[in-house]
Amino acid sequence: MIERIVDSSTSDDEEEVVEQQAEETLRPRDFASYVGQERLKKNLTLAIDAAKKRSEVIDHVLLYGPPGLGKTTMAGVIANEMAANMKVTSGPAIERAGDLASLLTNLQEGDVLFIDEIHRLNRQVEEVLYSAMEDFKLDIMLGKGPSARSLRLDLPKFTIIGATTRTGSLAAPLRDRFGLIHRLEFYSQNEIQQILHRSANILDVKLDSKASEELAMRARLTPRIANRLLKRARDYADVNGDGIIDHKNSRAALDMLEVDDRGLDHSDRRLLKAIIESYSGGPVGLNTIAALISEESSTIEDFYEPYLMQIGFIERTPRGRRVTPKAYGHLGVTAKDATSEQPALL
Ligand SMILES: Nc1ncnc2c1ncn2[C@@H]1O[C@H](COP(=O)(O)OP(=O)(O)OP(=O)(O)O)[C@@H](O)[C@H]1O
Ligand SMILES: [Mg+2]
Repeated sequence: MIERIVDSSTSDDEEEVVEQQAEETLRPRDFASYVGQERLKKNLTLAIDAAKKRSEVIDHVLLYGPPGLGKTTMAGVIANEMAANMKVTSGPAIERAGDLASLLTNLQEGDVLFIDEIHRLNRQVEEVLYSAMEDFKLDIMLGKGPSARSLRLDLPKFTIIGATTRTGSLAAPLRDRFGLIHRLEFYSQNEIQQILHRSANILDVKLDSKASEELAMRARLTPRIANRLLKRARDYADVNGDGIIDHKNSRAALDMLEVDDRGLDHSDRRLLKAIIESYSGGPVGLNTIAALISEESSTIEDFYEPYLMQIGFIERTPRGRRVTPKAYGHLGVTAKDATSEQPALL
C-alpha cells in the first residue's frame, strides 16, 4: 500500500512508533480538553457520576467508529475521570483463554481493561470474556478429557472498554454485554479547528486562524489527520518561513502533500475514478472495487469509505457502492452514461 498522509491508521514501523509517541503528548486526558463528541461525553459523564455516587465501577463501554476519531483517547479519559488504573491490550494480543485469565486475575477492584480491536478476539477467548463481563466470574478448565473439571474464580469488579472500527464483525453475545455502546462521529470543521489550535499550543507553534481553517478543511474531519497535517505544516514553516504557520505556508505544505481541498489524496481519487471509468460510477460490489484498485476490501471499508460516505461522495445502494454526482463535480468529470438516480438505502 502506498503511504498516505491522510491515512487515519497507525502502523508499527519505526517512524510510526515515533509518531505514536508524539500522538501521546497531544492526547486529551479529561472531558474538558476532549473536543467534540458532545453526546458521548454527556452520556459518559452521567454514567461516571452515577457510578461514583454508588461507589461502583461503570458499566462496560464499547466505542466504535472509523480510525483516528478518538476511541483510544476516550478510553484514557474515562479511566482518568474514574480515577482508575487502565491496562491496555488488544484483540489479537490475547491469543488463548489463558492469556485473558491472567490479565483478568491481575486486575484490581475498579481497574479499566482497554481492549483495542476487540472484534479480533478469537471465539475461545470471547467465551471466557462473556462470564467475566457479566458476573465477574472466571470459568477455567483444569485438565483435559474425562478428568477435566471446571473451576469458577471470583474476579474483582472492573470495567472493560472495547474499541473497534467495525461493530459489524463483533459477535452479538459480546456486543450485548456492553452497557454503553457508542459510535464516534466525524468532527465538524469547527471542532477540528479547535483541536488544531489546542495541538499547536502544546507543540508551542504559532498557528493563525486562516491557516487552521485551511488545514481543517483537508483533515477529513479526523483529529489524527488534523494533527498530522499540522506537523507537516510546522515542518514547512520551520524550513521555508519564520516558523509561524500562516495561510501561505499551510497552503504550500498541503499542496506539496497533494491533499486536495476536501482532504482527498491520490488514493481516494484513484478509487473514485476507477468506479467511474470501469463501472460508469456504479453501483458496484465492494469486492469488485477491491480487485479494481488492488486493496483489501476491509481497507476500503475502514479507511476509504467512511469519510467518502460522510461527505456524500459515495453512497451505498442495495446493489453496491455508487459514486455520487457530487463526487463527479469535485473530480471535474462529467457523467456520460449516468446511472439512474435511485435513492440510496443506508
Ligand atoms: N476529541 C479530541 N480532541 C482532541 N484531540 C483528539 C480528540 N480525539 C482524538 N484526538 C487526537 O487524535 C489522535 C488519535 O486519536 P485516537 O488514537 O484516540 O483514535 P482512535 O479512534 O483510537 O483510532 P484507531 O481506530 O486507529 O485506534 C490522538 O492522539 C489525539 O491527539
Ligand atoms: Mg485507537
